[in-house]
Amino acid sequence: MANIRMFLVLYPLLLAALVLNCRGDERKLHVVYMGDRPQGDLSLASTHHSMLRSVLESGSSAEESLVYSYDRSFNGFAAKLTKQEAASISEMEGVVSIIPNRMLKLHTTRSWDFMGFSKDKLGAGQEGDVIIGFIDTGVWPEHPSFNDTGFGPPPAKWKGQCQTKNFTCNNKLIGARYYNSDNDYDDTDIHSPRDTEGHGTHTASTAAGVELPGTSFLGLAEGVARGGVPNARIAVYKVCWDSGCGLADILKAFDDAIGDGVDVISVSLGSFWPSDYFDDPIAIGSFHAMKNGILTSNSAGNSGPEPVTVTNFAPWTMTVAASTIDRKFAANLALGNGQILTGISINSFDLNGTSYPLMWGGDAVNYTMGSSSDYTRYCEADAMNLDMLVGKIVLCEGLQDGSAILLSNGIGIIMMDPTVGIPDYAFSYPLPATLISPDDFRKVMEYIRSTKYPEATILLGETWKDAMAPTVVSFSSRGPSPVSPDILKPDIAAPGVDILAGWSPLAPPSIYYKDSRSLYFNVISGTSMACPHASATAAYVKAAHPDWSPAAIKSAIMTTAYIMDPKRHKDLEFAYGSGHINPAAALDPGLVFDASATDYINFLCKQGYNTTTLRLVTGDNSTCANTTPGRGWDLNYPSFSLYVEDGQQIMGTFTRTVTNVGAANSTYTASIDVPPLISVAIEPSTLTFSAVGETQSFTVKVTGPPISQQPITSGAITWRDGTHAVRSPLVVYNYIPGAPYTLDSEDSNSMPEKKRVLNGLYKDHRSGIVRHS
Ligand SMILES: *[C@@H]1O[C@H](CO)[C@@H](O)[C@H](O)[C@H]1NC(C)=O
Ligand SMILES: *[C@@H]1O[C@H](CO)[C@@H](O)[C@H](O)[C@H]1NC(C)=O
Ligand SMILES: *[C@@H]1O[C@H](CO)[C@@H](O)[C@H](O)[C@H]1NC(C)=O
Ligand SMILES: *[C@@H]1O[C@H](CO)[C@@H](O)[C@H](O)[C@H]1NC(C)=O
Ligand SMILES: *[C@@H]1O[C@H](CO)[C@@H](O)[C@H](O)[C@H]1NC(C)=O
Ligand SMILES: *[C@@H]1O[C@H](CO)[C@@H](O)[C@H](O)[C@H]1NC(C)=O
Ligand SMILES: *[C@@H]1O[C@H](CO)[C@@H](O)[C@H](O)[C@H]1NC(C)=O
Repeated sequence: MANIRMFLVLYPLLLAALVLNCRGDERKLHVVYMGDRPQGDLSLASTHHSMLRSVLESGSSAEESLVYSYDRSFNGFAAKLTKQEAASISEMEGVVSIIPNRMLKLHTTRSWDFMGFSKDKLGAGQEGDVIIGFIDTGVWPEHPSFNDTGFGPPPAKWKGQCQTKNFTCNNKLIGARYYNSDNDYDDTDIHSPRDTEGHGTHTASTAAGVELPGTSFLGLAEGVARGGVPNARIAVYKVCWDSGCGLADILKAFDDAIGDGVDVISVSLGSFWPSDYFDDPIAIGSFHAMKNGILTSNSAGNSGPEPVTVTNFAPWTMTVAASTIDRKFAANLALGNGQILTGISINSFDLNGTSYPLMWGGDAVNYTMGSSSDYTRYCEADAMNLDMLVGKIVLCEGLQDGSAILLSNGIGIIMMDPTVGIPDYAFSYPLPATLISPDDFRKVMEYIRSTKYPEATILLGETWKDAMAPTVVSFSSRGPSPVSPDILKPDIAAPGVDILAGWSPLAPPSIYYKDSRSLYFNVISGTSMACPHASATAAYVKAAHPDWSPAAIKSAIMTTAYIMDPKRHKDLEFAYGSGHINPAAALDPGLVFDASATDYINFLCKQGYNTTTLRLVTGDNSTCANTTPGRGWDLNYPSFSLYVEDGQQIMGTFTRTVTNVGAANSTYTASIDVPPLISVAIEPSTLTFSAVGETQSFTVKVTGPPISQQPITSGAITWRDGTHAVRSPLVVYNYIPGAPYTLDSEDSNSMPEKKRVLNGLYKDHRSGIVRHS
């Protein structure tokens, strides 16, 4: 009897379990992308509801399932669906694609003056009508960089809003929204557009922070901090949280930013692996932005120096590599025997020249746990005898965040990384720290072994002038584009190394994620820091030329770039694209290479997209009917890239059209500067204009002998009228030495060892290099 009752009680549960099982799987967030927003005033949200109602199995309502309607700038929605429900929806009319949600990663101010963009170059307040939208970690709204003293009300075109949960906007910071569709919050996340990671405050203040004299990082690098366009307005779209940046949220942020009326979108984040255009929320969102006249500037990624690592490479966006500025952070090491060794780090701790006992990590072995110096030489806390570290400066053969020594009441840490040597960027640590070369490491070891009481001190950090700058930093992701070999990527290099800018007082200021010091400014590195330099430049050009298209603005920035030194970059343009950004020159390029949505559509067709895949990106009724697949040489791009099949002759003909934006009456003559391997013929080689806005076309025929195993070789084509120099790099290649993987490689083990080590070290570092930071 008891058993029967038990059965009756359990039976409904069993049945429920079986039903759940039949459903196959739990509901996961999917983006249902439906392309362009249809014309007219219809309610897309109700269409989304009814689509959902027709596929949802009983037990789930459309209200519960629907997370977002994308209904302002394009059409689609994000909803929690089972696999079967997703499959049913994908069959429905109007559905372009279904993309499962996934996480993307986030990728400082001497920098503006370094590139010749001093304050006097700014227009008479005209940037005040320009709004930059940042898709990032939010901002710290009370930060002095966002002080709105002197700012009038937002421009009339502004249609955005401020989500005022624990947050206030002002006339500088005019909009703020936040997105977390998976409701995936960590303890440290604040449910508001408020920045707890520092990254978004850093990028927004780099591009558009107001001028703040007397700024420094704990006394280092003191000077005036300012954004590139201090008069511009800021709108923030917080999509990145402790767990990452959700694909569905990124698309919603684009939908809103476009609808709100921003002028430029700045995106310092990306996928870890390259994905095809139709599977990449940044490529899709930025395509709609482009159609609406908005340029998206995005970071190249921090997976260099290996080739083919660039992750944001859609031709309608501006892809930004990171370069050094002429300021290097150093913290030298003084040994007890009088030797002074060079070290790299951002060290704000002053030991006042006092020497402390020095030991090698390999000598701090925890024998109780069976460890040996084979482990402790790297200063892995778990293996060490922590009692021995008290009061010591410890020498480690690996990169550490310093916490083991700090928490053991050690004094300082000296690090050496055999794979990197002396890095070309610096980090800050929670205690006195520096990083020395492998050669100097051997000197320190010799000294430790030569004396009974070795001692040392780490000197207060200083800044040097780096005569080699600018060079593209090691970690900046390199081209070529993994999917479009005929489009040169990255497009441009901008300062992204050791950049001082605003910070969130809740974010750890050093690479130790529990560093509880609270700061308003920090020095960090990443292509994430380079991107807002380019975004600000785009805003500057847009302010002066409100009617220019995104392609025209990008062209102006690329053709006026400073030429970078090829001798310092073995991968040439795959490191720096058209060169180093030169904001002041971008205002007056003379000629621009313009392009419209139709041009990008034709390009995608040529790239072998069929109508189906094309619509995944464009979301409209575009067809590829009359296009035979071929090379992408005719997209009106401001640079030239020729990929040659191995063993084939160098041969390609590019067609380009330039629009006169300089003097009405002007004559431009082409000059060709290419290596002997390549022959170039330009037809016609003189272009005469008699009006502003007039266009002229030309062809560039590139020829040469058969090539094999030819790494990138490059030159440039420059149009000159006596005032302007409109320069386009031209690259030829058929071999990519050391390419770690291709787009269709799923083998993450092919990633180089060094990269995994770096990721391991910085995985918890909220501001660090992993997040296109
Ligand atoms: C904003 O700037 C003004 C003028 O420089 C200054 O008086 C004011 O204290 C600043 N406000 C904040 C919150 O920093
Ligand atoms: C609101 O912001 C403050 C920082 O100003 C933070 O300390 C606090 O935790 C936030 N409150 C909530 C409810 O998130
Ligand atoms: C160095 O000197 C300063 C000023 O005298 C003092 O505040 C600081 O604590 C000293 N640092 C150490 C590590 O002794
Ligand atoms: C040695 O390792 C053991 C086990 O992990 C740990 O309990 C102990 O505290 C360590 N000893 C020292 C001196 O760090
Ligand atoms: C379009 O291309 C995709 C991907 O290459 C392919 O899977 C699909 O079958 C093609 N569709 C048509 C209609 O050719
Ligand atoms: C696109 O095609 C759909 C259905 O085929 C049609 O309803 C719609 O009007 C078309 N849109 C445009 C802009 O041609
Ligand atoms: C351009 O040149 C033409 C013919 O030489 C002349 O008529 C015209 O005024 C010039 N325009 C400008 C803006 O100088």
